[in-house]
Amino acid sequence: MQIRSSSSSSIFFSFVYADETAQMITITSVVVVLLVVLLQRRLHRKKQKRKLPPGSMGWPYIGETLRLYTENPNSFFATRQNKYGEIFKTHILGCPCVMISSPEAARMVLVSKAHMFKPTYPPSKERMIGPEALFFHQGPYHSTLKRLVQSSFMPSALRPTVSHIELLVLHILSSWTSQKSINTLQHMKRYAFDVAIMSAFGDKEEPTEIEAIKLLYQRLEKGYNSMPLDLPGTLFHKSMKKAEEKKEDYWVYFSAQRIRNATIADNIIGVIFAATDTTASVLTWLLKYLHDHPDLLQEVTREQCGIRQKIKEENRGISWEDTRKMPLTTRVIQETLRAASVLSFTFREAVQDVEYKGYLIPKGWKVLPLFRRIHHSPDFFPEPEKFDPSRFEVAPKPYTFMPFGNGVHSCPGSELAKLEMLILLHHLTTSFRWEVEGGDEGIQYGPFPVPMNGLPIRVTPI
Ligand code: HEM
Repeated sequence: MQIRSSSSSSIFFSFVYADETAQMITITSVVVVLLVVLLQRRLHRKKQKRKLPPGSMGWPYIGETLRLYTENPNSFFATRQNKYGEIFKTHILGCPCVMISSPEAARMVLVSKAHMFKPTYPPSKERMIGPEALFFHQGPYHSTLKRLVQSSFMPSALRPTVSHIELLVLHILSSWTSQKSINTLQHMKRYAFDVAIMSAFGDKEEPTEIEAIKLLYQRLEKGYNSMPLDLPGTLFHKSMKKAEEKKEDYWVYFSAQRIRNATIADNIIGVIFAATDTTASVLTWLLKYLHDHPDLLQEVTREQCGIRQKIKEENRGISWEDTRKMPLTTRVIQETLRAASVLSFTFREAVQDVEYKGYLIPKGWKVLPLFRRIHHSPDFFPEPEKFDPSRFEVAPKPYTFMPFGNGVHSCPGSELAKLEMLILLHHLTTSFRWEVEGGDEGIQYGPFPVPMNGLPIRVTPI
């Protein structure tokens, strides 16, 4: 009986106890939920206090996309910068964006708070080039790859390539004597591509293998610049199929070279992509600006003829040291990079909420540093529309001149790009004169801004 009573009381107590536990759990849960709600409200209020940058988000869904595409992109940015200042919000291609156009804000996004902004590209581009390419990454993986890629483009690595680049220049220019009319952009693409291939594979490759890679690249390039519509029959779909075949081909190729890593394949393709159209567009602008400024062309020719004379006397090819003694030509290249600003802006995405001068850049928003707006600001470059290489006699202020970007993702190929421009200008100015044909003064985008129709020219040997 005692046993029963004790057992029944223990059952009773255990029930009471269980009931109390349940109550405690309920109370604790309610308190926790209340705390979370309160905390969220506080955070929300704090977030609300940090206001979004000024600007218009346009229409629901489409935002200001139509405006950007119907207006000239430069005037789209300029109008908004004049209205709202160095930082403004907008909504394009389905994404809320913050655009920034001051050196200070660019420094924050690209350098001082670079870890809070990751690179972002449309998924179609990532699929096309290959997801392992370094510009899609961030953090330690990116740093390791970057060091590897950069080591191939340091001055010490470039020095021995000068004679090979010179051969490529002579090869391109030798074809000019038999052609009356030349499409500058197409020839510069060929040159920039050949230099990129040479820097990726060395000068030992078989011409047939290079031609095969070139064909694959051209197919990929068409798809890269087309609408990313993956439906049977579309250019993107065809190129994507080619890209998959390409992966196989490259795989076979790299295995044969005992390079077994897809990382290497994606990065070589990535480097060729990053190197070709950018350099070719800048080279095309160089010919345009020199053509439009005959006095400058004469001065550059004088500088180059001095070097040519010495090279002839010493009976040798152009050397790395020669390219370091071209101050005027170097300034012309700098001014071309500024004036043309072929990479008008870049994209990042905020990985967390970021505060800048009291404004909130919310997590997930795209952030666009507008290089071209900074390069064309009269505060840093007086009379910005004037082509004036002498402005580079004095070094530009920090973060006002970023043709090759800045910070962790800055261009590893900047020295190579400048070197190929110097070598081409050396032979071009001392061997040819050129007249622009057609008289079309406009700009076309393909995808980078270039003179209309790729600058058709008529050349005469001198
Ligand atoms: C005049 C020609 C060129 C211009 C104007 C240019 C410009 C740029 C800019 C602005 C960036 C930074 C993009 C960003 O921050 O989002 C960049 C990155 C890059 N460039 Fe260039 N570039 C040129 C030539 C080259 C060449 C010749 C190569 C290769 C040999 C190259 C390879 C790359 C690579 C791999 C990246 C990605 C770096 C990273 O994400 O860490 N570029 N380039």
